[in-house]
Amino acid sequence: MARIFINYRRQDSEGYAGRLYDHLLRHFDAEQVFMDVDSIPPGVDFVTFLDDAIAQCDVLLAVMGAQWEDVCESDGTRRLMLETDFVRVEIASALRQKKIVIPVLVGGGKMPSTANLPDDLKPLLRRNSFEVKHAQFAADVDRLADAIRRVASPKPLLTSAERAEKEAALKAIRLDLMNATDSPLYELRQAKRHFPVLGDGNPDASLLFISEAPGVNEAKEGRPFFGQAGAVLNEMLDSIGLHREDVYVTNFVLDYLGAKREPTRDEIAYYAPFVDRVLDVVRPTVIVAMGGTAARVLLTRFDQPEARDKISQIHGKLMPVEAPWGGALHIVPTYHPAAVLYSASWKAWLREDFQKLRMFV
Ligand code: URA
Repeated sequence: MARIFINYRRQDSEGYAGRLYDHLLRHFDAEQVFMDVDSIPPGVDFVTFLDDAIAQCDVLLAVMGAQWEDVCESDGTRRLMLETDFVRVEIASALRQKKIVIPVLVGGGKMPSTANLPDDLKPLLRRNSFEVKHAQFAADVDRLADAIRRVASPKPLLTSAERAEKEAALKAIRLDLMNATDSPLYELRQAKRHFPVLGDGNPDASLLFISEAPGVNEAKEGRPFFGQAGAVLNEMLDSIGLHREDVYVTNFVLDYLGAKREPTRDEIAYYAPFVDRVLDVVRPTVIVAMGGTAARVLLTRFDQPEARDKISQIHGKLMPVEAPWGGALHIVPTYHPAAVLYSASWKAWLREDFQKLRMFV
């Protein structure tokens, strides 16, 4: 259930924000839409208070009217530049917490220019805006509500027959993989008496996690993320109330590579039809690409320009793409669970990025 926080500047867009709130209540329950934070108790740190309020939400709508950038204090200082400006504090908090932030343009509002924004708001410029026009307010808010639902709604439940069909389809892929004697890693698999590692978990998961290739522990068991990296993945899932049975986990290469190395282009290409078949069975609403290699492969496959970016630049970003099977699909790159074993700050990022997945559960 998506929870929506409406952020607005009274002097700029109070009327529009109120109208937006009323129209959103045609689509969402009143408990899902927050507009004015209740008064902050005396003596309480308002930044922490607002952080906590934003933490309860999945989506922040930053309503921007024509004066959004320019509203000033009596001494001429632009409000946005003040660290005490609630509009700025709330948006910065949502960006920092990697919530979905949608700039909603109303009454002739435009996206601000980079020179006019304090540093903590600059990431806002990379968020797609949504214009709600006066003359078609209701229709535009209907579209906005659809967009919010698309990024934030779970899949409908399967009947037991549909679930059995998916399980059978995955079994068939696993069998084909066992018999894939022309695989570049088949001989190694046989020599070491390893198993191929197709993936495991919920065949109808909303969240599918994909990484580069199984390690030796995984190949011995025939299950992905079974070793130390698996323990980190399980810990992260646990932090958002999920278990391995709730999600699907796989890799771009489905056999052990024989050493700690990056998979080659040919190896990735060889397994691509198997991976595509798995994706088409599970049909997740979010694919989490764990690690720089997996992110590059996945984003390249979906023609996303961020494929060239480093994982440190794109982790935790929610990227809408066209699902090959139709419907909504988002890609979220994250650090690799094995990489964070050696870096407390990367681990903290990974944990934060996982928080963002809560809305898809
Ligand atoms: N690392 C990966 O990339 N995949 C696994 O399955 C396990 C560790």
